[in-house]
Amino acid sequence: MADNYKQEKRGHKSKSSYKQDLPIRDYRKRLVQAVEENEFLVVVGETGSGKTTQLPQYLLKAGVTSRGKMIGVTQPRRIAAISVATRVSEEMKCHLGEMVGYQVRFDDNTSDKTLIKYMTDGCLLREFLDDCALSKYSVIILDEAHERSLDTDILFGLVGKLFHDQRKNLGTEDKPTRLPKVIIMSATLNHEKFSEFLDGCPVFEIPGRCYPVKNVFLDYVGVKDLRTPSYLKRAIETVMKIHLEERPGDILVFLTGQDEIEHACDKLFESAEKIDYSHDVHYSEVEAMLILPLYGSMTTELQKRVFDPPSSSVRKVVVATNIAATSLTIEGIRYVVDSGFVKQLSYNPRTRLDSLNVVLTSRSEAIQRTGRAGRTAPGKCFRLYSKEVYETAMTEETIPEIQRTSLSHVVLYLKSMGIHDVLGFQYIDPPEERMILEALKQLYYFGALDRGGNVTTLGQQMTEFPLSPGLSRTVISSASLGCAELVLAVAAMLSVENVFVTPGGKKNLSTATNVHKKLAEEAGGTNDFATLLFVYRQCHSSPSPPRWCRDHYIHWRALKMAYNIHHQLETILHRQLSKDPHPKRNTDKTKMNSKDVLRRVLCCGYFCNVARKSSSGNSFRTMDGHGTQVYIHPSSTLFGCEDQLEWIIFHDIIWTSKIYVRTVCPIRYEWVGDLLPRLHEVDSYSLSGWAEGKLTDSKHDGNLQDHHETETGTVADVVKISKRNTEDSLTAARQRFLERKRAREKNQGR
Ligand SMILES: Nc1ncnc2c1ncn2[C@@H]1O[C@H](COP(=O)(O)OP(=O)(O)OP(=O)(O)O)[C@@H](O)[C@H]1O
Ligand SMILES: [Mg+2]
Repeated sequence: MADNYKQEKRGHKSKSSYKQDLPIRDYRKRLVQAVEENEFLVVVGETGSGKTTQLPQYLLKAGVTSRGKMIGVTQPRRIAAISVATRVSEEMKCHLGEMVGYQVRFDDNTSDKTLIKYMTDGCLLREFLDDCALSKYSVIILDEAHERSLDTDILFGLVGKLFHDQRKNLGTEDKPTRLPKVIIMSATLNHEKFSEFLDGCPVFEIPGRCYPVKNVFLDYVGVKDLRTPSYLKRAIETVMKIHLEERPGDILVFLTGQDEIEHACDKLFESAEKIDYSHDVHYSEVEAMLILPLYGSMTTELQKRVFDPPSSSVRKVVVATNIAATSLTIEGIRYVVDSGFVKQLSYNPRTRLDSLNVVLTSRSEAIQRTGRAGRTAPGKCFRLYSKEVYETAMTEETIPEIQRTSLSHVVLYLKSMGIHDVLGFQYIDPPEERMILEALKQLYYFGALDRGGNVTTLGQQMTEFPLSPGLSRTVISSASLGCAELVLAVAAMLSVENVFVTPGGKKNLSTATNVHKKLAEEAGGTNDFATLLFVYRQCHSSPSPPRWCRDHYIHWRALKMAYNIHHQLETILHRQLSKDPHPKRNTDKTKMNSKDVLRRVLCCGYFCNVARKSSSGNSFRTMDGHGTQVYIHPSSTLFGCEDQLEWIIFHDIIWTSKIYVRTVCPIRYEWVGDLLPRLHEVDSYSLSGWAEGKLTDSKHDGNLQDHHETETGTVADVVKISKRNTEDSLTAARQRFLERKRAREKNQGR
């Protein structure tokens, strides 16, 4: 854990001058003019040229916010949004949250004075739900477009549609809404493609990079090693070699995930302890090594530590995942060690599982990583792989996330925005049709869509929670089951990073593991969700929560964040309940054992994540019709107890040597039994809206309208929906649809 790594007294190295000669400076006037003259603009400039930090300031000074409208800049990652906003507020000498602010999920640091707002792409997507003309903004900058994150890709489609619709309605509106200017920005982008997508808009190129970076291919991983690459040991060796032989300057190492990073940090720490600085180190200015991990599941506070400058004789080594590859400037980095690998979320529509796999990066990703070494001075990038791997095995671009992850939340957003035909939506790179159909089906099972593919009241309520559809479904159901207190806490705990500290060093690790085991036992010892709830409550009720966390090897900052999230979720739920103060109660409640209540309500959102014990071995089979073989992850309380289990639900999946399920809870068959056989019995095309023109508007279908209005989100409702969804009712619905279609065609033929 980061806190346990060697901490050096921090000196106060002066910040690099804000008035540096960035390549973008020479283009200031022309850039502003290009923005003023065009609805869309693609801006490409090499990494470090000043796009993210400078362009919004130029536009602000040119007066684009004069009507009180903001400049919104999206980033695919929260740490980038926060750190860039911090930097720009420093440059503009204002307090963060005032003129310059940021918004990330569960953390809004803006005010009514904010004129430049950095935010995650997910936050802007949510804003589209309430205001599809984005009327608060004069300019929208979709930054780091090359990352092709799911939310940014959907934003491309939405802004394209916005302008398209306006043009279509031109002349029909009295006073057409003034739409924001849209800028797509990146360092390594296939700009022709983006320009073509946005009506052939102009491309503005900013040539030149800040400082030169030399690439060195170390050949440790060749093309034939790609199946089982062993880069970790080599990465550690390379860092040590740089530390001993190269000039002063900090090091940024790219690895793939938390475990790997923690392991590398431990090993580096061990090696650093053995250095005799009077003999081993070539440059006498180098006197110590400060090792800092950086990965997504760390708290933002801990992540921010990588930006603190160490004292002058200390070499900082940041061991990071891909989150450090874009937008971040960590001052002082002169060396990059690139493993060439990244952990990527992939959705397998056959197994219906999202999983994290380690894969080779793309070339554009490798260029981004290299760029991190030349942000504030000339640098070197040590690529652990061979030139052949770079040239022949790496793909040119990263596969867009939209083509490899579950789409349910974005499909629900699109539907809620009135974009019914989600198959026909203009995606810059369309996902496979079956991925969209999968998402539609899942939303239908959740009760978020009716059989005509319309968003139900429940679906609308679900979009108000910044949670996955499954989790928001669970939260809403908990209100009607009278157990919202439990579920809100669990949802909050699932929305923060791993709360359990895994300290470095064998002894500490074993003590922490024992303390965590004891907590799980006290929580009942059979349910990971209940353990999270127990930790939440114990900490909350203790006289000194920070101390309780220290004693129990729990991240206090994560818990603090969970309390904050709990409060935010509760506010949303109360708002919904105030509109409908009498949510339908589950009539079954009296029969429900209070011990079972959490498990039962979890089934409302997790019934797509059910698995049953296989007849032999420790594995389970998913019950979604695909029967994927999964194993309980060793971090679960239930690991090793597989023999005593039959049915389980799980929160997520991780795919390493096997497919593991994490955060697991045993359930009874009868709680989900009615739902399981139905998971593949729905006509996805009728949900998609693809045939909207051909289908009779479902709003005129009395049955469906009833269904829409009565959705309130109880367990009983889920059961009811599935009951309606029988073979007979489906056949009848199909029959009705065909009849309507025939009648329509006949009318058209006349
Ligand atoms: N937090 C910071 N600390 C020190 N220097 C910074 C910081 N942020 C930015 N800079 C300086 O400003 C320059 C421009 O940064 P900016 O993030 O605007 O570049 P960019 O063109 O958006 O790069 P990228 O394509 O990598 O996102 C950097 O090269 C660096 O010199
Ligand atoms: Mg940038």
